[in-house]
Parts: sequence; structure tokens; C-alpha cells
Amino acid sequence: MEKIIILDFGSQYTQLIARRVRELNVYCEIHPFNKIPAMDSSVRGVILSGSPYSVRDQVAPRPDLSQIKGKLPLLGVCYGAQYLAYAYGGDVMPAPSREYGRAMLTVGDKDDELMKNLPATTQVWMSHGDTITAVPANYRVLASTEDVRLAAYRIEGERTWAIQFHPEVYHSTDGTQLLKNFVVGICGCAQSWTSESFVESTVRELREKLGDDKVVLGLSGGVDSTVAAVLLHKAIGERLYCIFVDSGLLRKNEFDDVLESYKHMGLNVKGVKAHDRFYGDLAGVSDPERKRKIIGRDFVEVFNDEAQRIKDVRWLAQGTIYPDVIESCSVNGPSATIKSHHNVGGLPEKMHLKIVEPLRLLFKDEVRRVGRSLGISELLIGRHPFPGPGLAIRILGEITPERVAILQEVDKIYIDALRRDGLYDKVWQAGAILLPVKSVGVMGDERTYESCVALRAVTSTDGMTADWVHLPYEFLAGVSNDIINKVKGVNRVVYDISSKPPATIEWE
Ligand code: XMP
Repeated sequence: MEKIIILDFGSQYTQLIARRVRELNVYCEIHPFNKIPAMDSSVRGVILSGSPYSVRDQVAPRPDLSQIKGKLPLLGVCYGAQYLAYAYGGDVMPAPSREYGRAMLTVGDKDDELMKNLPATTQVWMSHGDTITAVPANYRVLASTEDVRLAAYRIEGERTWAIQFHPEVYHSTDGTQLLKNFVVGICGCAQSWTSESFVESTVRELREKLGDDKVVLGLSGGVDSTVAAVLLHKAIGERLYCIFVDSGLLRKNEFDDVLESYKHMGLNVKGVKAHDRFYGDLAGVSDPERKRKIIGRDFVEVFNDEAQRIKDVRWLAQGTIYPDVIESCSVNGPSATIKSHHNVGGLPEKMHLKIVEPLRLLFKDEVRRVGRSLGISELLIGRHPFPGPGLAIRILGEITPERVAILQEVDKIYIDALRRDGLYDKVWQAGAILLPVKSVGVMGDERTYESCVALRAVTSTDGMTADWVHLPYEFLAGVSNDIINKVKGVNRVVYDISSKPPATIEWE
């Protein structure tokens, strides 16, 4: 399979370069600059990313590019461009004024392969404190902005280009065209990496890898595990054993509804009701991290008990996706744990199974596209993310079956209303939180003293940052009214208007 390699110098935009390239239906991989992979015949070209470093820093990344530069098409972006100047005889200095934000690029050489089909002037996005001040004689300037003469250049006599702006960000109006000029025009990639081709090649690879072996997979009702299951099912049919654990912490009716759709999709799935165990172990626990740990442990144990009943199972399938893979081997190292995510982290060691991760090369939106091309219903594919520990981390304070039932009712009213008013798909994630406070209210002629719930709705692309959604007042008014009138035990509704950071999406 042909591919583009992106060498990561730690820029916040590196993943975005990969997405843009993949949107052109060209497969690419991100590798840290200090672990350059072998440049085998499948590599059509290399992109050097930006970086938080200055090339002049003592500790700045300075990889050896001798296997790449002059041998393969190469594009340096921002730091990448500065490195290609600095390391080969040019000069990079602090910019007289820092170059951040919008700038107008004037294309000097319209016939250059990288500049093809760009307008004479186009908006680009700059983000650097240094600037290239001198380049060797065989570096030819292709485009400039008012402040940056060497905004784009190429090295004559080799297939190396460099740009100091960021084509991958939305504000670089013709950035996609420029990347297309590189990956398609210059590198000659065929743009044949589509959901359909991914499904076809993955199913083939899974069949080869798994042979007649049995595989077990934990379904969660979420997009990733569902798509992973359907792909594996397509490859090995009934030899895929799915387990769907009901912790009693799912949304109202979710276990039955989702189990039904899994069966409908032909999956070999076993639902395991384990409310009592989870409720029992969580009784009296209010500390968020302890809750997470207990749920994680119980989940592993319930799953394990069930998996052991499958004779001769060899593999554990997981719905790991590409951001998790990059995160765990990034130049910055795995990021600090703010909340311990449980998922199925503890399973493999305990179970002595080999791991298979059919989605480990895909971004979330690509998983959705693959899901659609596999014919999975929009109701499953379009679902908001839902945390592994479920409603437990939306019930602040102690978890009791009664409090779970209250939150399930509230959540259902809220989510149904979002769907009814066409807002569900405009929101990245929404949910209700049951607070550990009671407040005074009045209903009819009577004083009430009942719980308060918070509603949360956020926009995001990956959950790393998020903003609260400006839901219409009339909508909030209607939902609040419905909740207070219909859910016994709740007499107050508030709306969460915090962004992430500094808040997080979940309250615990
Ligand atoms: P936070 O609250 O950290 O959440 O802003 C970011 C995203 O991650 C989800 N989340 C989890 N997902 N297991 C999961 O599978 C977990 O333990 C977990 N904790 C938070 C959260 O719902 C949001 O989408």
C-alpha cells in the first residue's frame, strides 16, 4: 500500500496534516522524528511537521535525513522548512515581529509543481517566532508574504519543497490544493485509499492473520467497538465472540436496544447483566477515581469470567483508534493522566491473549465512514461518545440504583429532545449530571427539597478541547420544564457553561 510518512517534531498540528492528506484518499502515517521508519518502496514521500522548538535551541530535534532528502519527495512545513534551511547552510533568526495568524501569500512561480492551481494571492496561516533569513544558492523562492520573503521555496536539483506557513489549518484557504499538489502531483499517489478499499484490505489481512482462531471482543455500544466487531465478523463470522456487559450504568433502555441491534446485525453477541455486582461494589463510594477503578476492575472480571467460557479463544480484539496509538508513542510521550480511563486496559495481561486492533490506523471520523460503508445504522454510527464508566461519573456523590434511575429519566428527556429538535447531530456530546446537592422549591402549595441536575452539551473534534454549545433558550426552557414535571426527585435544572480547558467534559 503506498503511503506518505509524516515526521513529527511535536507540533500541535501534526495530526491535522495527516487528516488533510487522508481526506485526499492518500494513506499516511505519523512517526516521531527520533524513530524514522525504513523508507521501503511503499513510501512515496515525506512531510516534516512543525514544532514548538526553535531550530536554534540546544535540544531542538535534528534528525538525520540522509535516507530521505534528495532520494524521495520531501515537504518541510514550518519548523520542517526552517530545519531544511538551517541544517544545510542557511540561516534562521528570531523574526523581527512574531509571525502568527493570517497573512497574504503572493505566489511568485505559478508554474512550480507545488504552487500549481493556486491563485496569484491566497490567505495562509503563520505560526512561528523564527524566520528563515538566508538560504543556500540552490534554494529558489516560490512565494512570499509581506513580512516573510522565504514563505515557500524549493531546492533545485532534488524533489524537496518547503513552506513556512501551515497548509493543514482551515485558515489557509488553498492549503488542501497545495497538499494535493504535493501528495498527488509530486509524490504520484493514486488517491485510492477509501473506506471501501480499507474494508477490503483489512478483511483480507484479518483472515490471513487469524486463520481459524477464535476472537473475543468487548462491545460497549460505542462507535469504535461496533465498527471493529462488524469488520471482524465480516472476516471470520461466528468465530468472533462478542460480550456486551450491562453495568447498570448505561442510559435508559440502552442495553436492551443496543443488544437487539447487535443481534440484528448478525453478530454473535452475549449480553451479560451485572448490575448487582457493580452497584454492590460502588455502594458508599463517592471519590471519582475510586469509582473509576472499581468499575474498571469489575468490568475486567465480568468480561474475563465470560471469555473463559469460550473454549480455545486465542485473540482479544480492541477498538483502539489512531489517536491512541500516536498518543502512546508521540515525541512528547504519553500525556499526563487527568482521569484514569478504564476501558479494557487491564485485560490482555490477565488473559494471555494476543491482541488484534483492526482500527488502529483510523481517525474517529474515518471509523464513522468505514462504519457507514459497512452498512451500520446511522443511529449507532452517529451516537455521541459515552464514557466507559457510564453514568457513574455523572452521578456526583454516592451511586444508588435510585439515583441511577433518576439520572436515566433526566438524560432520556434531554437526549430525546435534542433529537426531536434536530440538535443532536450539531452537538458533539451531551449528557445530564446528577448533583449531590438538594435545594428548596415549591410545587403547587408544597415546599419541596430535592435534587438538582446539570445539563451539558459541547462541541469538540476529539474531546481534547471543547466548548459549551449555545443551545436555544426556548429549548432549554422546554427541557427544564419537562424534567422538573416528569422526574420525581428533581426540582432544579442548571446548564453548564464551562469550556475545556479549564473544565473537563465529564464532571468526574
Ligand atoms: P473529559 O471528561 O476528560 O472527557 O473531558 C473527554 C472525553 O472522554 C470521555 N471519557 C471517557 N471515555 N472511558 C472512556 O471510554 C473513560 O473512563 C472516560 N472518561 C471520560 C468523555 O465522555 C469525553 O468524551
